[in-house]
Amino acid sequence: MLRPILTSSASLCTSGASQHESSPPAEGTETVNITYIDKEGKEHTVAAPIGKSLLEVAHDNEIDLEGACEGSLACSTCHLIFEDEGIYKKLPEPHEDELDMLDLAFGLTDTSRLGCQVLASKELEGARVRIPSASRNFYVDGHKPKPH
Ligand code: FES
Repeated sequence: MLRPILTSSASLCTSGASQHESSPPAEGTETVNITYIDKEGKEHTVAAPIGKSLLEVAHDNEIDLEGACEGSLACSTCHLIFEDEGIYKKLPEPHEDELDMLDLAFGLTDTSRLGCQVLASKELEGARVRIPSASRNFYVDGHKPKPH
């Protein structure tokens, strides 16, 4: 049974920390601000902990980026398009396997990357990444759905 906790006004927490943001980074974790533009064109600016992939950051913040193979480079559903070429150029070069998967991505651009392969870093501060309106999912499409 829940009991109300009585407290004096002197001990009330006044830090103002919000409790309803999804998965805020742990205290002390360095973050950079990244804006995701979803399929409907809605912008979501989030604090991305350094070292986390942009796919993980999207999922931590309930942003609709697919990631069908969970980062094992077997799909291209985590395709992201960097809006700023300057920031895109600061990213480490993509691995050959990433390039192969990107070739299969729907709506490939010159600033496309796979979200599971790009880690948040200081260079990404202020980056804006667009989630394409469609994705091509060979990974899941290869599976036969079971009838319910
Ligand atoms: S989640 Fe499948 S390649 Fe990124």
